[in-house]
Amino acid sequence: MDSFARMEEGTADQWKAIGDAHRAHYRTTAPMRIMAHLRDLGDLTLGFACDQLHHSLMTATLARRAGASDEEVVGALCHDIGKTMSVPNHGAISAEILKPYVSDDLYHAIRHHQDFQGAYYYDFFDRPTDLRDAHKGKSWYSLACRLCDEWDAPGFDSEFDIDSLESFEPEVVRVFSKPRMM
Ligand SMILES: [Fe+2]
Repeated sequence: MDSFARMEEGTADQWKAIGDAHRAHYRTTAPMRIMAHLRDLGDLTLGFACDQLHHSLMTATLARRAGASDEEVVGALCHDIGKTMSVPNHGAISAEILKPYVSDDLYHAIRHHQDFQGAYYYDFFDRPTDLRDAHKGKSWYSLACRLCDEWDAPGFDSEFDIDSLESFEPEVVRVFSKPRMM
C-alpha cells in the first residue's frame, strides 16, 4: 500500500498499516536492536575496572542470581544503556528506552539511579551524597535501593564470572517484544 507524503493526507487504512508495522517491529527487530546496543557498551570503559558491557552483565547476573523477575533482570542489564549516547544523563535515556516495556516503578528506579549511586561517590565531586533521601516513601524507593546497592554498585569486578549477553536474550526478547504502550 502506498503511504502518504504529508501526514495531513493520511487515511485510516494507511494509519492501520503503520500500526501493524510498529507491532511487527516490536515482535522482531526491537529486541535485537537492544542486544546490539548493549554490545556497544563493550567499547566504553570510562575509567572503571571493567568495560560497561561487563558491568551491565555483572549487574544483571547479580539480579538474576538474586531471583529478580525477568523485567528487573532486563532493567539491571539496561540501566546504563544510555551511556552510549550521553553519560551525564544516561539514567534518563536508559529509563526512556525501557519505559514502554516495564512497570512505572522500574522506570523511576532507573530514571533516578544516579541519585542513589551518589551515596558512594558524590562527595568526591562536591555534591550531596543523600539525594536518594528525597525519594523516600515513593513506591519504587526499595527497588531503586536494591538495584543500586545489591546489583549495580558491586558490579565492577573484572574477574567476576558473569553470565553471557546471549544468555539474557530470552529475557530481552520477552520484555522488549511486549510494549505496554504504543
Ligand atoms: Fe551501573
